[in-house]
Amino acid sequence: MIPRSLLFVPGDRPDRMEKALGLGADALIFDLEDAVAPTNKAAARHMVAERLAATRDHGVMLIVRINPLDSGFADDDLKAVLPFRPDAIMLPKAEGAASIAALTAMDKDMPPILPLAAETPGGLFELGSLRHCAEQLAGITWGAEDMAAALGASANRDEQGLFLPPYQMARALTLFAAAAAGVPAIDTVYPDFRDTEGLAAYARAAARDGFSGMMAIHPAQVAIINTAFSPDADQIAHAHAVLEAFRANPDAGVLQIDGKMIDAPHVKQAERLLTRVR
Ligand code: COA
Ligand code: MG
Repeated sequence: MIPRSLLFVPGDRPDRMEKALGLGADALIFDLEDAVAPTNKAAARHMVAERLAATRDHGVMLIVRINPLDSGFADDDLKAVLPFRPDAIMLPKAEGAASIAALTAMDKDMPPILPLAAETPGGLFELGSLRHCAEQLAGITWGAEDMAAALGASANRDEQGLFLPPYQMARALTLFAAAAAGVPAIDTVYPDFRDTEGLAAYARAAARDGFSGMMAIHPAQVAIINTAFSPDADQIAHAHAVLEAFRANPDAGVLQIDGKMIDAPHVKQAERLLTRVR
């Protein structure tokens, strides 16, 4: 199942990692990167490994965000967690297929990789190359915070909380790169976790645009994200109506429903939407 909500939990907080299993998130991302101070990296690796080693009958996908390839920490991160078989590895500051190849070469049992593929300027230019290593990918996602820092920008969102043009472009290219690779597009975090209305609107727009899910940083965001990325009753009914119209008219290439044209792309959309019904 493609995750709708992917909740970040700092890897040096065992209490929160355990509690997070029961919060309704489809996936958890145990973070060893920015949420963990350098002095805590070694302890966090073992805490995450212990969490992975505990029972896994909860059905929640467990992802580990390691440190970037050039950080000097990535090797030890992998050595600590891979024996306990995380469902995926999140690679921050990934720069295209070369980064995926470098990570894959680090262990013969590498699980699927979820790259933060547009959170550096270099990564943005390599997004298209990810379609050549689609088999290794669990999806593609991006990050606006590190991108803003790399650009020397003082903000990445406007007063309403909406992304400024450079970040809209990174987000759109992430979506295209994921579609070109045939893997899920996962949208970035909404940092203002008290603004639940803003998050609901943002997540609905992301689902509308074609993202399969979104990362979260706080438990209060999980249910909102799950709802936004689950097809609603009207969408499900419409998808069935589209498929039924073509079933009833097997020789038609194009038909109409309520005065709107439907043809092959609409059938594809309807089929895809119905795979997301739980
Ligand atoms: N995962 C699991 N539980 C979480 C959580 C998370 N990411 N964030 C908050 N909680 C839980 C805690 O259990 C907390 O209760 P407790 O203090 O009794 O344990 C409860 O929700 C309320 O938290 P709140 O007081 O609202 O927030 P906070 O100040 O404790 O934490 C953050 C705020 C931002 C530090 C925290 O949400 C967090 O660490 N988020 C993830 C950050 C991260 O991983 N970033 C890297 C990727 S961008
Ligand atoms: Mg970061």
